[in-house]
Amino acid sequence: MSAPLAYRAGVLQLDGTPLAPLAAEHGTPLYVYAAGEMRRRLSRLEAAFAPTRPLFCYALKANPTLAVVATLARAGAGADVVSGGELARARAAGVAPDRIVFAGVGKSRDEIEQGLAAGILQFNVESLEELRLVDAVAAERGVTAPVALRLNPDVAATTHDKIATGRRHDKFGIGAERLGEVLALVRGLDHVRVVGLHCHIGSQIAVVEDFERAYRRMVELYRFVRGEGLPLERLNLGGGFGIRYADERELDVEAFAAMARGVTAELGCGLVFEPGRFLVAAAGVLLSRILLVKSGSDGRRFVVLDAGMNTLLRPALYGAVHPVHPLRHAADDAVDVVDVVGPICESGDVFVRDVPLARARAGELVAFANAGAYGAVMASDYNSRGRAGEILVEGGRSAVVKPPRPPAALFADEAVPTWLEPAPTAGS
Ligand code: LLP
Repeated sequence: MSAPLAYRAGVLQLDGTPLAPLAAEHGTPLYVYAAGEMRRRLSRLEAAFAPTRPLFCYALKANPTLAVVATLARAGAGADVVSGGELARARAAGVAPDRIVFAGVGKSRDEIEQGLAAGILQFNVESLEELRLVDAVAAERGVTAPVALRLNPDVAATTHDKIATGRRHDKFGIGAERLGEVLALVRGLDHVRVVGLHCHIGSQIAVVEDFERAYRRMVELYRFVRGEGLPLERLNLGGGFGIRYADERELDVEAFAAMARGVTAELGCGLVFEPGRFLVAAAGVLLSRILLVKSGSDGRRFVVLDAGMNTLLRPALYGAVHPVHPLRHAADDAVDVVDVVGPICESGDVFVRDVPLARARAGELVAFANAGAYGAVMASDYNSRGRAGEILVEGGRSAVVKPPRPPAALFADEAVPTWLEPAPTAGS
């Protein structure tokens, strides 16, 4: 079981807060996040890097709920945003603009304007085409845009294929072979100032050597670009720090920090990292109620929940395993081996197969661990089952930070065109 989740007297608690009363009060499915755990994770990164003080820009995409971003911002994190929407959220949550980096392989003119208007730290620029666009938009506003060039270091990280981003054939960044071309272009542009280099080789990576190969390459490229006369100030080395979901090992943060500091020391430049999952995954759980337990024809027992791939997509999309625990547990509870599934009409709507589960009975509550990252934010309206609410807990207090959306709320703002009205009624 992951650290902040623990049983006390048979009652599952998240950071000391019993979970069952929250499910009873707010209904299920329900996401619950522990602010304390987010801060502890940030402190652990800071301690590992001390006395170096990198800027940790929390990657909002992992969990953009305002209360989550505000928790990390108050604790000193900046923000890594990938859209105008995330930029607006980061600002609404109180992140100072000079601690915001703006990444993403496709930024619109509007989004670039928003970044310039806010006065962000830097745009992480991913192509020559984008460099020209940022220059043009900055020229119209009569300003100079700070940019970091996102380079593709051609490193295949050990992770799921869908979340590896640093290989030659991935859509991200600029190939190092085009650097000469980029520098020639930059020299002709008056409204961009190259302040750094950026890379991000993927997500959920636990192998320090994968990062090391990429970072060594970035250090070479940094020295090359600086040697070409560009006054670089910082190296942004992305995020991707892997956590332990079930059997994986977590990234050894202390070994990682020692490596990153060692490899970059000679540059004497500022460092930026963009952790998302590492800060918030273990701080969150998804609570769900067992709707029924049905027997399959081959002897399987299916535990059918009120949460599904619409609530937590990671198992269906990546084959990810989120450990599942009953909210109440006694030593003499019967344990059955079951398949835990959602109610969605797709065979892929399975959380985990052949798992031993105590109290696998209709009406009981369960929690999925490590659901704080890429959970609620990747939920959808599929099958019109409504959206889970989100709760933040802290030292015995709890607050609804995003209310659940009942099914009717999902279509409340839709419209039927006048030519389809009036709706036919039965028998007419
Ligand atoms: N920086 C950049 C440029 C990124 O693209 C990402 C994640 C991050 C930072 C943060 O990565 P993290 O520290 O969270 O690993 N939905 C997937 C993960 C997609 C990650 C996309 N980019 C999942 O549920 O596993």
